[in-house]
Amino acid sequence: MIMKKDFISIADYSPEALQGILDLAIELKKERLEKGENKPLLKGKVLGMIFQKPSLRTRVSFDMAMRQLGGDALYLSPNEIGLGQRESVADVARVLAGYVDVIMARVFAHQHVLDLAKWASIPVINALSDYDHPCQGMGDALTIIEKFGSLKGLNVTFVGDGNNVAVSLLHICSKLGANFTLASPEGYDLSSKALEEGKTFAAKSGSSIRTIRDPHEAVKNADVIYTDTWTSMGQEEETEKRKKVFPPYQVNAKLVSEAKPETIVMHCLPAHRGQEITDEVADGPHSVLFPQAHNRMHAQKAIIVSLFR
Ligand code: CP
Ligand code: NVA
Repeated sequence: MIMKKDFISIADYSPEALQGILDLAIELKKERLEKGENKPLLKGKVLGMIFQKPSLRTRVSFDMAMRQLGGDALYLSPNEIGLGQRESVADVARVLAGYVDVIMARVFAHQHVLDLAKWASIPVINALSDYDHPCQGMGDALTIIEKFGSLKGLNVTFVGDGNNVAVSLLHICSKLGANFTLASPEGYDLSSKALEEGKTFAAKSGSSIRTIRDPHEAVKNADVIYTDTWTSMGQEEETEKRKKVFPPYQVNAKLVSEAKPETIVMHCLPAHRGQEITDEVADGPHSVLFPQAHNRMHAQKAIIVSLFR
């Protein structure tokens, strides 16, 4: 029997497999842009999309990825399933596996996406958990490759909270040979698990991992400056506390001017303009925010197709 595949974390994949998915994403994007359509590689396949949290990009980009490849997608809102509350995760996984061909889940607890993968006989994709956001990491890698050709040897700096988006960026950078720096306030570091994973992968790819407090030091020589919200979904009660801690980590024109002249600025969106990023930077010449958002769809097409190969 062939083992089904899942896409739970970039950490689970070899650099070669990740590069293969990114090469396919480039190919599918080119096909779509040049011919106006893709071959129906997912004809007859349906993606079940479980959301425990809100979304614009993830919901629309997965739905359109499926449609453009000849398949379909079914949106299941937070109220409908009650994952782990109305019904156990194991039961949801086994029921859905009889209706759809692949499951995508945006969850609070990372364990829930792991449990879905354990109990479903079909592929499961992590569409953001409290631990990581691997589909974001793949779209981000595609965006960086489009600008610089590859990740190898680049200096990628994440400024802000050592959150789920930072973890997937750390994973993809360390797997594919980019040097990763996190500048975060004390108490908002990467988890020790993510840091250990990153160090292991970086040792193999020949890149480096650095975690520091000073955002100015962190962006020196940066090819990529990345930021995300100061308060992630599920942490809303900490909003006011975080608004007091994070202002020195705002990505503004002064900070960007301290990086390489050709540096690009990235943000997974949604952006809180005037907090982690200024309008001037988000809409300025270094920003790749919107192509980055669009690349989620191209990367996810390749992720889904690769799960059936
Ligand atoms: N970047 C991202 O995942 O956006 P959404 O929360 O809108 O899906
Ligand atoms: N870190 C953010 C990312 C949103 C796409 C969150 O988890 O809310």
